[in-house]
Amino acid sequence: MSKLTQNKVKLVEVGARDGLQNEKTNLATEVKFEYIKRLTETGLKNIEVTSFVSPKAIPQMGDSKELYKRVVSELNPDLNYPCLVPNMKGYEAAKSVGIKEIALFSATSNEFTKKNINCTVEESFQRMTDVATEAKKDGVRLRGYISTAFGCPYAGHMPVEALDNVLEHFFNLGVYEVSIGDTIGVANPNQVDEYLKALKGKYDFNKIAMHFHDTRGMAVANILKSLENDIFIYDASSGGLGGCPYAKGATGNVATEDVLYLFNSYGLDHGVDLEKLVQASRYILNQINKETPSKYLTTLFKRDEK
Ligand code: HMG
Ligand code: MG
Repeated sequence: MSKLTQNKVKLVEVGARDGLQNEKTNLATEVKFEYIKRLTETGLKNIEVTSFVSPKAIPQMGDSKELYKRVVSELNPDLNYPCLVPNMKGYEAAKSVGIKEIALFSATSNEFTKKNINCTVEESFQRMTDVATEAKKDGVRLRGYISTAFGCPYAGHMPVEALDNVLEHFFNLGVYEVSIGDTIGVANPNQVDEYLKALKGKYDFNKIAMHFHDTRGMAVANILKSLENDIFIYDASSGGLGGCPYAKGATGNVATEDVLYLFNSYGLDHGVDLEKLVQASRYILNQINKETPSKYLTTLFKRDEK
């Protein structure tokens, strides 16, 4: 067995945001709340709730104020409930309901940001600087997301230099952590290894998360390669929900259950009750009437059917 340098891992559960933003079924706020409530009972400490984006762009997140208000007033106050914010309008909305942590997002590819947030990468940093300045004044924690780190649906292959440049921009904004996103699930362990080795030394890897989508079935292998490169923070989506509305063909994030199965095989301390998580995933999958892409869950559900 490969030797890892740490035995504690951090998970950021993105099912309720990255997962549900791409589902066709328009879920009632009550259903999303119930799903998040179940997630809070699993031991997960970081649960992304929603995004304060344009409801014309992402109608699925149109109830963000109402949902966030319920989450912070009724659920465990000791957990982190980050939400995506693209601009000042989104920040004002998030602030009006008492947001404590926001995730800012950009990408390595102008082609992608133009479709996703209607501006170039450079322009996105001007917008994010305004938001970050306000958020810091308000004591709101900042996380960052970099999409298309390994490849873009419009521009193709993305070099590590582009990722390096955007990482630097994000840390200059004052984020406490940046999540490197393989938005279209195009990365492979060889590329992940090459990119992380190139970035090592320049950045504090305790502040870097990996966000893999499982489009080509490489996500778990990519996580293992990242662990071997001393990254111990991972985004994942319960039940493997999700995708990106501006990345056609991108399937969901790697399923949290598949990631936990990997973590367990290495004896890594993640603090999550896998059985309770399965129940939360089962609940939301039933609500959206969807089969899971998770290998772990598929095996479990088929066994239960017998
Ligand atoms: P825009 O059209 O350039 O915005 O969109 P605008 O400032 O010109 O305003 C146009 C209209 O939108 C106006 O309304 C604004 O008020 C409204 P109108 O006058 O037409 O009625 N508006 C807003 N409404 C609510 N909340 C707001 C907001 N801002 C403007 N915050 C914008 C720019 C960024 C708003 C839009 O493109 C947008 O909302 N994009 C969001 C896209 C998104 O959520 N994508 C998915 C998340 S990223 C992701 O999934 C990747 C990740 O998982 C990592 C990975 O996998 O790679 C994180
Ligand atoms: Mg994503």
